[in-house]
Amino acid sequence: MKKTAALLIFLLMSTMLVAQDKQVNKHSNSSWMNTIPENELIEWRRHIHENPELSFKEFNTSNYVADLLKSFGNIEVIRPTKTSIIGILKGATPGKIVAFRADMDALPVQEETGLSFSSKNDNVSHACGHDAHTAMLLGTAKILSKMKDQIKGTVYFLFQHAEEQAPGGALEIIESGALKDVQAFFGMHVIPNYPVGYIGILPNGAASTTSDGFFLTINGKGSHGSMPQLGIDPIVVGAEIVNALQTVVSRSITPGEMAVVTIGKFQSGDAPNVIPDKAELAASIRTISDPTRQLVEDRIRAIIENVTKAHGATYELEYIRSYPAIQNDAKLNAKANTSAIKALGKDNVFDALRMTASEDFSYYNKEAPTCFMILGVGEGVANHNPKFNLDEKALSNGVKAEVQIILDYLNN
Ligand code: NI
Repeated sequence: MKKTAALLIFLLMSTMLVAQDKQVNKHSNSSWMNTIPENELIEWRRHIHENPELSFKEFNTSNYVADLLKSFGNIEVIRPTKTSIIGILKGATPGKIVAFRADMDALPVQEETGLSFSSKNDNVSHACGHDAHTAMLLGTAKILSKMKDQIKGTVYFLFQHAEEQAPGGALEIIESGALKDVQAFFGMHVIPNYPVGYIGILPNGAASTTSDGFFLTINGKGSHGSMPQLGIDPIVVGAEIVNALQTVVSRSITPGEMAVVTIGKFQSGDAPNVIPDKAELAASIRTISDPTRQLVEDRIRAIIENVTKAHGATYELEYIRSYPAIQNDAKLNAKANTSAIKALGKDNVFDALRMTASEDFSYYNKEAPTCFMILGVGEGVANHNPKFNLDEKALSNGVKAEVQIILDYLNN
């Protein structure tokens, strides 16, 4: 490249950067924006990433969080359960109480990212990005801890354990009574394949789906493959059940209403000339409203009952209802949207589609209105993949949005 051309490009880029800086300043005239602990965010995230702990076993992680919160000053640290932490920051004047939640647990997944700070623990890794959630909320707590005199009301920095394992940590914390005074809950999840640092506001109403499912064993009667009349073939019964289940969504659910029924497991038999005596099926079921959830369950139970009966087979069914759908409150959503734009600019905030993953954040709706959003972390594989990683440049935007959302909720 010629020198003059390089110089021109350099000048152009400098102008663009200055323009971008002005853009950021235009969106917030708050001096706290200059106090984002960029390096610490990465240091904390990497420490947690390297030392992941499974659900309900977040002993070291919660101690790490508690020690940091105490070091910031002005924050009272409580432990509502063995491995969860709430940092409570009381503002200069009394007012509303708001909670921002970060989950801290890792997954039973062997990490394959090849990162220099990869998990030190076999078969445990932060493949869902909860390390980033924890680091960001620590950053938010650090900034707000220095702004006590500018806060009206109380902030709960809610570091939750066990999001990944039903019945989930959220319920346990709610049952402890520690959240009974909270008037609004906010939460954020990192999601790949959205631009780095973009905040997505999930829809009003159902913002995620339920995560139900079943395990089914069909008991037939084993026989010689050449003498089917002496047996009851569980493979044939299972196949009919799988086919009939396809009608639950296509024939029973109102068009436009959301439901998914997926049979993810169908195992039976070992040899071509043997009719086995049982078949095992398992399914994943997603819905977003209570009536549809019930309708889907009723139809599935009826199909299994009647198809097995028609063939003279018997069955054992374990139907599991896991996390309900998150319900995003329209008013909180509007507030979060306004605050995120104020912090990051209009171009960095978008309306996100409903998440098809489920979250135990949904349980906080029992206590107060909730608002859950997503944070784009760039191109990559899906959450829960052994190669899941995120662009750390997104973290500071996450913190900016969190701080602004909390300040605006309490002070406006
Ligand atoms: Ni997650």
